[in-house]
Amino acid sequence: MKNTSVTFKEAKAKGRKLSMLTAYDYTTAKLVDEAGIDAILVGDSLGMVMLGYEDTLSVTMEDMIHHTAAVSRGAKNALLIADMPFMSYQTSVYDAVVNAGRLVKEGHAQAVKLEGGIEFCEHIQSIVRASIPVCGHIGLTPQSVNAFGGFRVQGKGEEAAQRILNEARALEEAGAFAVVLECVPAALAEKITKSIGIPTIGIGAGAGCDGQVLVYQDMLAMYSDMAPKFAKQYAQTGSQMKEAFAAYKKEVTEGAFPALEHTFKMDETIIDKLY
Ligand code: KIV
Repeated sequence: MKNTSVTFKEAKAKGRKLSMLTAYDYTTAKLVDEAGIDAILVGDSLGMVMLGYEDTLSVTMEDMIHHTAAVSRGAKNALLIADMPFMSYQTSVYDAVVNAGRLVKEGHAQAVKLEGGIEFCEHIQSIVRASIPVCGHIGLTPQSVNAFGGFRVQGKGEEAAQRILNEARALEEAGAFAVVLECVPAALAEKITKSIGIPTIGIGAGAGCDGQVLVYQDMLAMYSDMAPKFAKQYAQTGSQMKEAFAAYKKEVTEGAFPALEHTFKMDETIIDKLY
């Protein structure tokens, strides 16, 4: 059964924890989906982990649509959420609705996610009015990296914590079906989770959230440019890949690959007839 934004709301009501992972291509989406993960996020983190940018700011709508469409072909059961990239919604409510619509029509996303709190509630209301479910994202919002002065934990002081709690309430009021809490203290995330009726999905926000999300390259130790403290490594896939690449190079260099079993045969008398 394909998960939807309604599945998310029902999970919170039943106290069932939600799992979400990023994916950016068909093959990975299929693996994540087959593992039974509840939702796949085509995050704008693809700018860093797939495209090699230093931050997410250069990601375009075309990048997001291209990768979301690929993931949609592998996501049979998981809810498919696509990130709205930097400047695809900040500019106006009109742009927000048009670009959310493109992620659904051209990328086949079932929902969109956008970063920001109270200042974008009007945008969220209008997207929801267009029948597109919206997931909020507050706390450390990477598209604001220049305003924050770096990737830093948010909401440690009283004023900042109150602001983030108010934002979560405002997002629910605006019609968001879920909210990602990124890099906020665990106690604040738990307070938010208990204060709102929509699921909180934490990343670096502790165990008190209704669900968790990770970037798959972080949890498989594939991305070495940055290793966030909150990202548990479930496998050393990066070093396994490097070892396999090096073994391939060695066998090619030594002539050990391809072996007979990797080779197509023919009637070799034909070869003798060639001139
Ligand atoms: O872009 C992304 O992958 C995200 C997650 C880190 C939540 O927004």
